[in-house]
Amino acid sequence: MIVTALDIKVSKVENSRIGELDPSNIQFGKTYSDHMLVAYYEDGVWKQPEIMPFHDLTFSPATTFFHYGQAIFEGVKAYKDPEGNPLIFRPYDNWTRMNRSAERMAMPEVPEYIFIEGMRKLIDLDRDWIPTGEESSLYIRPFMLAIDEFIGVRPAEKFMFMIITSPAGPYYNHPVSIYVQDKYVRAFPGGIGFTKAAGNYGMSMYPTQQIKKMGYDQILWTDGFEHKYVQEIGTMNVFFVIGDKVITPDITQDTILAGVTRDSVITLLREKGIIVEERPLSIDEIEAAYRSGQLKEAFGTGTAASIAPIYALTFHEDKMLLPPMETWEVANWLKKELADIRYGRKTDIHGWAVSV
Ligand code: COI
Repeated sequence: MIVTALDIKVSKVENSRIGELDPSNIQFGKTYSDHMLVAYYEDGVWKQPEIMPFHDLTFSPATTFFHYGQAIFEGVKAYKDPEGNPLIFRPYDNWTRMNRSAERMAMPEVPEYIFIEGMRKLIDLDRDWIPTGEESSLYIRPFMLAIDEFIGVRPAEKFMFMIITSPAGPYYNHPVSIYVQDKYVRAFPGGIGFTKAAGNYGMSMYPTQQIKKMGYDQILWTDGFEHKYVQEIGTMNVFFVIGDKVITPDITQDTILAGVTRDSVITLLREKGIIVEERPLSIDEIEAAYRSGQLKEAFGTGTAASIAPIYALTFHEDKMLLPPMETWEVANWLKKELADIRYGRKTDIHGWAVSV
């Protein structure tokens, strides 16, 4: 059976809430657009998805995901091009990654017609919710939950896939101060570090709360064996400009999220002729580069965070202050280049911007 966007049932809101949105004061993740998409998986098949008014959900207290965390999610963004047409940035890459997370978490694959066609239809319907200011977008949150009503421990058989959307400004509205973590661990080889499983974020709350009390914004995680090699920041991948090279931790050990923005950044830099090394990067090497004046830039990348400059990196008592951001050639160029593609201001030679 070939299922298309036409098979997605739509019930529209009677009265849009768009008038309540203040485009000059959009905080990340606090407002939701009029509609959401819901699809159920039962008896080994996905049922017909539905787009319906955004509303609260009711679950039995025995529902699996409350207890055992069989829950995964994605983050995607939609922008408006200069003519006002919606563009979704690289949704196929998020779809592929969601299904990698699903496999590792014993959850069913989400078919393309639900993830991609459902998302396109939802964004088309709620296109007025895409803010147009620079650095503004509609954040798209697809997610899947295990919804068996059973408190025994076993992979669930019933699932719910949803997409909600939320108008967004910048995730960080200031350069970030990062604490290099060598007590707590995010991921080991063989674990779930490469997935967007809810538990990866749940387990980071306590360590992040601790470093926030110390005045830092986020953690840079290190490997669990030696606490020597850097992995990723709580909300984003990480890049360092050392000398004339850009270095980012490799993702071959399945301990680091394969960021879509990470991949876009690597692609754009290599096309510009800049050397990008994906390899193990130790905190010792970063400190040595700092001492010799070779550490020129450091930034995080992510769908929510976009390109987030790091102004300070602290490891134990060693606070490394990065040079003034006005001097940063790589991150500043990337920020503009990526924005031009996302907002449809530049020819998209990669086919990254998908229309609705
Ligand atoms: C994203 O960048 O989309 C994320 O999911 C990171 C964070 C907001 C949890």
